[in-house]
Amino acid sequence: MESAIPTHLRTARTKDARTPKNYQPPYPSFVARHAPGVKRVVMAYFGIQYRDAPTQASRGALDWLASRFAGSNGPTHWDRAQYVDKARFTNVVSVAYWDDPKLFDAWFEAAREGWTGDVRTKDNAGFFIEVLRPAVESYETLFSSLGRPEGIAVLADDMSGEVQEHAYWGGMRDRIPLSQSDDLAPRDNPRIVRQGSRLQVVPQDNICMIRSGQDWTDTDDAERRMYLNDVEPVLRAGMDFLRDEGPAIGCFTNRYMRVLDAHGNATEKSYGQSWWHSLEALERWAESHPTHVRIFGAAMKYLSTLGPAAKLRLYHEVSVASAEEQFFEYLNCHEQTGLLNAVELVA
Ligand code: HEM
Repeated sequence: MESAIPTHLRTARTKDARTPKNYQPPYPSFVARHAPGVKRVVMAYFGIQYRDAPTQASRGALDWLASRFAGSNGPTHWDRAQYVDKARFTNVVSVAYWDDPKLFDAWFEAAREGWTGDVRTKDNAGFFIEVLRPAVESYETLFSSLGRPEGIAVLADDMSGEVQEHAYWGGMRDRIPLSQSDDLAPRDNPRIVRQGSRLQVVPQDNICMIRSGQDWTDTDDAERRMYLNDVEPVLRAGMDFLRDEGPAIGCFTNRYMRVLDAHGNATEKSYGQSWWHSLEALERWAESHPTHVRIFGAAMKYLSTLGPAAKLRLYHEVSVASAEEQFFEYLNCHEQTGLLNAVELVA
């Protein structure tokens, strides 16, 4: 059994972990291990939003973005997913990952101009960019099985062996290296300012972001039925709650996404992605909202019983980022998009 925090990021603890004494987790889980030389990563969300069917312009924008990703200094990995939001707009979100911020910086300005710049104002669609560049001390990952990394973990050098800090409330915080000495409390609130035709966010310290994924590709009939009939509807109710009532509990926005394949067809993978005022607000929702408490309990029971035979794959990545590590920009999006949903417009 290893710690989720790699040796080179271990520091003297001034904040207590919630790991129970002599704790043995009831089922195995694993975390991504970057090479020690990786100091910071970039997670960049590029969204396009339209009302009815995709137009030629929106298809063209997505192709253009894919060609930028494939170009010089582009991301090591990216994926694309889709959801229909509360205002009934379709949002297609392409998430790209780098583990060298210098490459991202060399790549980003031209991509930004082409995605949220004036060139897009005639496309009859909304565009947004949401970027985090957390230091490796400021985020954690968790996987219920090995063999198919997702998200930032695709860039990792390796996966860990079984880690100790999981399957109890507070495990997420205990896996974030910075939590050894910092309570990761939010400072201030984000605000929106107008920059020409774009809306930008003045960020807040210690905003929190989660991408929590589910993959039922490999499940056989019984497991698939169990997931799709018993778990997914409860997950969906939890995702709808965060989408509709999230701001009152510190969730700025939530997207329940379906991952798309290279041809734009739905796969058997989904993820919830949300932005939070604080890690603490996310913890409170996870451990108290009836939907998540129920799926957490069901998954614990099921993973403990099936162990490595379980074919449903679960993973997540959670980051807490300082103000300098964030970038948010929106062009022609409706007012319930992303951080626009819960944040005050000040100028
Ligand atoms: C089918 C979907 C899901 C299932 C079965 C599920 C189940 C679980 C389980 C078993 C854990 C404990 C993991 C461990 O430490 O070993 C967990 C943790 C957590 N989940 Fe989920 N979850 C699902 C979706 C989500 C989604 C979509 C979100 C939010 C967007 C979310 C938020 C969290 C958080 C924040 C924790 C960490 C709690 C803590 O350590 O304090 N989960 N979930």
